[in-house]
Amino acid sequence: MVSAGLVKLNASSSQWIGQQSFNQRPGSSLRSAPRRVALPIRAGAYTEELVQTAKSIASPGRGILAIDESNATCGKRLASIGLDNTESNRQAYRQLLLTTPGLGEYISGAILFEETLYQSTTDGKKFVDCLREEKIVPGIKVDKGLVPLPGSNNESWCQGLDGLASRSAEYYKQGARFAKWRTVVSIPCGPSALAVKEAAWGLARYAAISQDNGLVPIVEPEILLDGDHSIERTLEVAEHVWSEVFYYLAQNNVIFEGILLKPSMVTPGAEHKEKASPETIAKYTLKMLRRRVPPAVPGIMFLSGGQSEVEATLNLNAMNQSPNPWHVSFSYARALQNSVLKTWKGLPENVEAAQKALLVRAKANSLAQLGKYTGEGENEEAKKGMFVKDYKY
Ligand code: 13P
Repeated sequence: MVSAGLVKLNASSSQWIGQQSFNQRPGSSLRSAPRRVALPIRAGAYTEELVQTAKSIASPGRGILAIDESNATCGKRLASIGLDNTESNRQAYRQLLLTTPGLGEYISGAILFEETLYQSTTDGKKFVDCLREEKIVPGIKVDKGLVPLPGSNNESWCQGLDGLASRSAEYYKQGARFAKWRTVVSIPCGPSALAVKEAAWGLARYAAISQDNGLVPIVEPEILLDGDHSIERTLEVAEHVWSEVFYYLAQNNVIFEGILLKPSMVTPGAEHKEKASPETIAKYTLKMLRRRVPPAVPGIMFLSGGQSEVEATLNLNAMNQSPNPWHVSFSYARALQNSVLKTWKGLPENVEAAQKALLVRAKANSLAQLGKYTGEGENEEAKKGMFVKDYKY
């Protein structure tokens, strides 16, 4: 029997089920062991479920539709087609997206803003039920946005840890099964050691709290496209950022099989004199991932970061030309929604055409996940870049 002193149950709702001395010989008395080294084995209530959720999101030919813009950012999207930022306009837009027939063939998860998680269609059907019918896992943005980081070089940090455990438990009850926390790192601002450490620590605390409440955390330290730096410089910064992130994830006992990553692709800065080809971007990005990401992580779900719809799809396709240790896929917002918004224009008679536009992009990225996208037949609009300096989410 294990001595009661060696078992600590219910450490902040996780269970620590084993702790023993490394230098204890079989049959020797526990009391005589000269030195104890704690070896905690974490058996959270949700471990199996987290692994299953992450696997189902990272399933072949599918990726994530990100529509978790804060109300302010959603307002900017609506303003681009001449609509006011009202709750009913936001709901109409999200309804169009989430009720697209056949979406589940290409989309495995949808990241929602809190308002959308609790909303229903105009016919009274909960959005989370619309998603479940298409076998799409509902997700939720849980961070509270970026604010200036005092003591840094004009950099920011991400808020939202206070009350996160209880909010996450409520989101789980409402049907969410994964979460997103986006923090950013700026290359032109340094990045400073302080900003990188803060970003990594915040992500790790968030990831541990999410897993404790049954939500698969998407870990997103976005390395912003802003700047005129080379692709080599982006690689260097990305390797540094991901090494810090994994260091703190491990320190917080985060289960790697139950997380998803949302990295930026490794590209030159948006203002760099030369553009890189999809093959070069794939080479650098995969190099960074192989050096830093353990194969236990089930899925890499890239953000689009201001690339055009077609660029984001071509780059993803280039990364899937040979097998990877992880599912390499997409979690795009701008690169899935741009054509949809332009087609919809806020008019009810355009809803069907806009849903078709969403399916076109979702299918293109599904093919890219399988490494089978050719880029044929894409229209000029989809090739336009969407980079915005100092983009806020
Ligand atoms: P995009 O960069 O693809 O617009 O989205 C970023 C994001 O974090 C969405 O959840």
